[in-house]
Amino acid sequence: MRKMKLSDIDSVIDIEKNSFPIPWTRGAFMAELKNNMLARYCVVEVNGRVVGYGGMWLIMDEAHITNIAVHPEYRGRGIGTKLIGALIAEVSGTNIYGMTLEVRRSNIRAQKLYRKFGFVPCGVRPEYYLDNREDAIIMWKTM
Ligand SMILES: CC(C)(COP(=O)(O)OP(=O)(O)OC[C@H]1O[C@@H](n2cnc3c(N)ncnc32)[C@H](O)[C@@H]1OP(=O)(O)O)[C@@H](O)C(=O)NCCC(=O)NCCS
Repeated sequence: MRKMKLSDIDSVIDIEKNSFPIPWTRGAFMAELKNNMLARYCVVEVNGRVVGYGGMWLIMDEAHITNIAVHPEYRGRGIGTKLIGALIAEVSGTNIYGMTLEVRRSNIRAQKLYRKFGFVPCGVRPEYYLDNREDAIIMWKTM
């Protein structure tokens, strides 16, 4: 587990395309790493290969998880758990009082992962996802 670097973006884009119907672009990740002072991104490497990543924005006293994904070949081995644990560890003991994220209503696997760490559903953004107009569940964790 380490901080994401610009040279990781190719691998991250590959995971992104294999994970989301509307993947973030190379430009989006470049902007996050180069220009966004609020952004924190980390990756997990297995045998020198980047197989997962996660990130968040620290806004005032809240942490907004922007994305988390594990390459399909590496899912179900605890890597997602490690990533969320690392994001939580990064804000523990700081002024951050809560962490939030949005997750597709149908993404039960991710919701189970978040619940494991104390995230609870607190609201819905109706038809939030543009590809299929699926609702987003808003989850929060109090630190
Ligand atoms: C969600 C995701 C990051 C989880 O990563 P992962 O490495 O597979 O997660 P883990 O192996 O640490 O498993 C975490 C929890 O997910 C759940 N889970 C794992 N595999 C599962 C499966 N096949 N079915 C249902 N739940 C499952 C379990 O609750 C598990 O915790 P447990 O093992 O303690 O019971 C990964 O599935 C992924 O990249 N999905 C596509 C992208 C995505 O949906 N990101 C989230 C956007 S909000």
